[in-house]
Amino acid sequence: MTSRSATTDRRTATLTGVQPTGDLHLGNYAGAIRPLARLAAEEHRAVYVFVADLHALNSRPAPAALSERTRRLAAALLACGLERPNVHVYRQSRVPAIARLAALLRNVTAKGLLNRAHAYKAAVAANAEAGRDRDHGVNVGLYDYPVLMAADILALGADEVPVGADQAQHLEIAVDLARQFARAYRTGALREPRALITDGVGTLPGLDGRKMSKSYDNTIGLLADAEVTAGRIRRIVTDSTAPDRPKDPDACPLVALLRAFADPATVEEVETRYREGGIGYGEVKALLAEVIEQHAAPLRRRHEQLLADPAALEERLSRGERHARERADQVLARAMTAVGL
Ligand code: TRP
Repeated sequence: MTSRSATTDRRTATLTGVQPTGDLHLGNYAGAIRPLARLAAEEHRAVYVFVADLHALNSRPAPAALSERTRRLAAALLACGLERPNVHVYRQSRVPAIARLAALLRNVTAKGLLNRAHAYKAAVAANAEAGRDRDHGVNVGLYDYPVLMAADILALGADEVPVGADQAQHLEIAVDLARQFARAYRTGALREPRALITDGVGTLPGLDGRKMSKSYDNTIGLLADAEVTAGRIRRIVTDSTAPDRPKDPDACPLVALLRAFADPATVEEVETRYREGGIGYGEVKALLAEVIEQHAAPLRRRHEQLLADPAALEERLSRGERHARERADQVLARAMTAVGL
């Protein structure tokens, strides 16, 4: 494929960001990264995927931890099927037009709108529960997180944003701010994105059966060593049905995980043995560890390669950043003119 200029590219722009909160787990991979890689395989798309390092600041990570996580995540995104000419991987903080657009958007953002944003409301509710001041521990970065996220999307002129249920409200806010901006200044200055609802796609159970999520501390790492992963898999909670008793495959987290990574024939065979009562959980866990290792091994190898050569990784990211900057600078210039700057 020929590389196209950021400003004349007319392909569908698909955009998403990932926060550098820790190493990717199987849930991130099956729910977000792999679906994105599949979208990217369709060449009518230009895909923008970034490490949301500015967003991460609101939880005040230690500086060394933030830069290390950012580096590891950027390499992980590349390693997980996104090393393609139509995919641009970048660090949010290296595209200054995003933060500058956020500064403009703040003035068309009603404070009441942010009072109703989920993350802020959850913080307020937790404070009320604990009998503390409603805004205890809430910084403005957390409070206006939706404005920065709108800027991420609008600055790159995204057409579509793949989102799960947890991010749907943020996307509505981005659309809302594009409209407010149009109403206040100029129609069409900012492109209105649409949500690409990926809900239910690849949602995986974690060790305790709840949705796999860092906040539940029930994750299985994607890029960890095989033994570490096998150890986590052994900790998945199952019921105490004996190996020779029939079991419902649809009720078992091991089967849900197997469905996400094994080939259909293997899954079918396991499901049949569940129904007929001829399989124990220990055996399923061992099979699952093997299947995941097959899937993860090449990704882990590529991740390690990328991390082993910091200069090459930096060069890789700079390329994505140049492209993203070119595109975002154009949008920012239009928005600046619209407001009279
Ligand atoms: N808020 C998203 C999350 O926590 C990450 C994110 C930041 C994002 N900016 C974005 C996602 C823009 C999509 C588009 O998962």
